[in-house]
Formats: sequence, structure tokens, C-alpha cells
Amino acid sequence: MQIIHTVSELRNTLKSHNKIAFVPTMGNLHAGHIHLVELAKQYAECVVVSIFVNPLQFGPNEDLASYPRTLDADCEKLNGLASIVFAPSAAEMYPEPQTMTIKPPPIADELCGASRPGHFAGVATVVMKLFNIVQPTVAVFGKKDFQQLFIIKQLVKQFNLPIEIIASDTVREASGLAMSSRNGYLSEKERAAASQLNQALQRVVQEVKGGKCTFDAIIKTATNALNAEGWMVDYIAICDANSLQPAQENDTNLVVLGAAKLGKTRLIDNIEFQLK
Ligand code: PAF
Repeated sequence: MQIIHTVSELRNTLKSHNKIAFVPTMGNLHAGHIHLVELAKQYAECVVVSIFVNPLQFGPNEDLASYPRTLDADCEKLNGLASIVFAPSAAEMYPEPQTMTIKPPPIADELCGASRPGHFAGVATVVMKLFNIVQPTVAVFGKKDFQQLFIIKQLVKQFNLPIEIIASDTVREASGLAMSSRNGYLSEKERAAASQLNQALQRVVQEVKGGKCTFDAIIKTATNALNAEGWMVDYIAICDANSLQPAQENDTNLVVLGAAKLGKTRLIDNIEFQLK
């Protein structure tokens, strides 16, 4: 496995490959990331994993400075799995101020975007840059970041990028907690309680399937229950899984998404489900 830090070296190295599978990450790799890489390996012999904590997608009061940077440990986990780790510095990725950016679709201002203004513009911009640098045939993203996946699919579609986007299922701990680099911020007590978010979303799914209450009432009950357990719910939403618009009576392919803070840690999760 090669570890490459510059765009020019990466481009030179990739010249000899015509099929590349790409997994963009911000590092601090866990079993969820490894699952993405294993999936990528099914699509191409050459698997590139990028590790870059992208300043553009962090708000001024977010955790850019404290976001865990664990390159050596990450490379150990990828050894034998990935072909190339691309780990550029911020100066390599942004040698001059990035005054041209991707303006994502209006959905980027909803759900997570409502409390993280500019986040998805930052994600779409860095992903577009990484796609241009790596020029992959396929790229693998996790469904845990359902809204991010939706926006990346739109990016590829609307800019006619010749890249197949592969969506990978969320990897969970035995408790149901979705794997996330931010789980590392949780205290022991918080970690024991963290699966409550997934449990709340599971109850939402059951209640929607039961059909006895309105979506609004179901969301209110779930929000109140989590808040009563000490969470600070950002949102719980029942959406059409294909459009990410609020679900309507006749929609059958649904997703319930939630974001909530436990102590200082903001966690997200979602569950896709079918009606009828
Ligand atoms: O999901 C992530 O880790 C990041 O948002 C991504 C896609 C690597 C862009 O920085």
C-alpha cells in the first residue's frame, strides 16, 4: 500500500490504472469505514482511500480543531486492503482560497443543513475536487450519512460525472449504535445511552407502519422521549427516501432520519423502510 500526500504524485501513480474504486474519508477509521473499503474492492483492483479532514465543511463553532487525526493507525488498518492512501495537507488541497464552490441543492439547507449552514457546500466542494483528482470509476459512501449520500448522487447526476456511486449499509455496534468517528467523543455513560437514538428511530418506524397516528404526532412523541432521556434533539424527520422531502400519505419508500446531541456530541442516524 502506498501513502501519497500530493496531488501530482497521486496523478502520476494512477496513470497506469483504468479502473479505480474510491473511498473518501476524514480518517479516524472504524469498522464502518473498513466495510466501505471492502465493498470498494469488489469493484476495482485499485482502491484509493482519501484521508482528509476538510475545513470547508466545518462551521465556526464545530469540532474542526479537535476532530481526531490518526493517520498512522488508519494506515495500519488499511494495509493489505487499500492500494493507495491519499492523505493531503490542507495546503495541498486548498493552495489558494477556495473562492469557487459547489452550491448544493435546496435540500442541503434542511435536516442537518438547517443547523450546519454551509456544511454540504463544503462536502460537495471537496468531493468534487477529490473526484477530479482521483478520477474514480466508482466511489463508495455510507448510508449513515443519508443526506450527504443524496447530495453526492445529485452532484454526480447534475454535473454528468462518469462515476458510479455505491451506497453501503450502516455498520452498527451490537447495541444498534451507528459507527461514527464522533462516537469517540462520548463518555462511558453517554456511550451506554447512545443507542437510544437508534431505538427512538426504530419506534418511529413501527408507529408509522402501525398507521394509528399522524407523522407529526409520531415525531413529537419520539422527540419528547429522547429529550426526556437527556438528549437535545436537533430533528427527527420522516421523508420520502428518493427525494428526501417530507413523506406524504402515499409514499411507500421512506426513511426516518434523526440528529441529536448527547452531552457535547452530535450523533445522526437513519432507517430506511417500506410501507405496504
Ligand atoms: O463523510 C465524510 O467522511 C466526509 O464528509 C467526506 C465525504 C470524506 C468529505 O469530506
